[in-house]
Amino acid sequence: SDDELHARIRAAKETLGDRLVILGHFYQRDEVVQYADFVGDSFQLANAALTKPDAETIVFCGVHFMAETADILARPEQHVILPNLAAGCSMADMADEDSVEAAWEELMELYADEDQSELASVIPVTYMNSSAALKAFCGRHGGIVCTSSNASTVLEWAFERGRRVLFFPDQHLGRNTGKAMGVPEELMPMVNARKPGLGQDPQTLLDAKVLLWPGFCSVHKRFTVAQVEQARADHPGVKVIVHPECPMPVVDAADASGSTDAIRRFVAASSPGDVIAIGTEVNMVNRLAAEYPDRTIFCLDPVVCPCSTMYRIHPGYLAWTLDGLVEGEVRNEIVVPDEIATDAKIALDRMLAARP
Ligand code: 13P
Ligand code: SF4
Repeated sequence: SDDELHARIRAAKETLGDRLVILGHFYQRDEVVQYADFVGDSFQLANAALTKPDAETIVFCGVHFMAETADILARPEQHVILPNLAAGCSMADMADEDSVEAAWEELMELYADEDQSELASVIPVTYMNSSAALKAFCGRHGGIVCTSSNASTVLEWAFERGRRVLFFPDQHLGRNTGKAMGVPEELMPMVNARKPGLGQDPQTLLDAKVLLWPGFCSVHKRFTVAQVEQARADHPGVKVIVHPECPMPVVDAADASGSTDAIRRFVAASSPGDVIAIGTEVNMVNRLAAEYPDRTIFCLDPVVCPCSTMYRIHPGYLAWTLDGLVEGEVRNEIVVPDEIATDAKIALDRMLAARP
């Protein structure tokens, strides 16, 4: 029963004490988030993994790429557990190493005649929502990782070192960030690794400032300008904030955009009586609505839009992995092989050192 599950989780937490730290992403369901020692956006959770050196085990209630990142940043002796190994991210799966390598080779050939003494022809930038192998690719090729909370800082870092950026996997975060930095839309073409010439004429690739990978988030691509207009019609004075994984017209139509923590801070800075429409995952929106009952807070999409993979972290899996730890068994451990972790850490460390 649910009561029994929750009793098991509480008992295991009590037994394991400081040897255990549970991290939870904002999109996790309430039944899981209540047990997290730290709840945050993906950047904050990466930092949290770094700043808990005393814990023997980090149980990551989030998705696979987040647990991989925690393993790369944690001490070698620390174990990182993902309670359900099927909790992936469909966007991260949209960029595989072979396709990125193939696109990179084509770009290198095209840019071979450029003078590289001052600036590299292209700097690879991977969104945190990607495999450790792609972070390692960036580490090897002078590139860097970004999250939705530091994407413009990271793009500035990249433009100080290169003429262009190859941004993957999320086209929307890349486009929205480039646009906010003043890059014209026509200089942000999409590259398709499966098409000859990456699906673009060579001049477009030569003129480009931000080369976008065609990945997207299936949750955030559901948000539309019509929903923003509907919210404004239904609630005059409504404030609209969306995640930058939403398509550009939606971000443009909103009053603000930002990472999950930026959305939380936007709500925290609002006043009683305010009406706020949010374009992000529904578990987080519902939690904010419950936390601030004196404001009207709702999800822009009237049809419930959870992240189905985040939702795979059920309390049953959490209880099962914690039971294992109490018995001395590490279940569902995420281990990034050393040869990948070393290069991936270079790209992650560049991100952690990049400052606005
Ligand atoms: P944040 O970095 O804003 O937490 O976003 C992570 C994510 O997966 C959003 O879909
Ligand atoms: Fe991936 Fe989208 Fe889920 Fe975030 S909300 S974990 S990008 S599928």
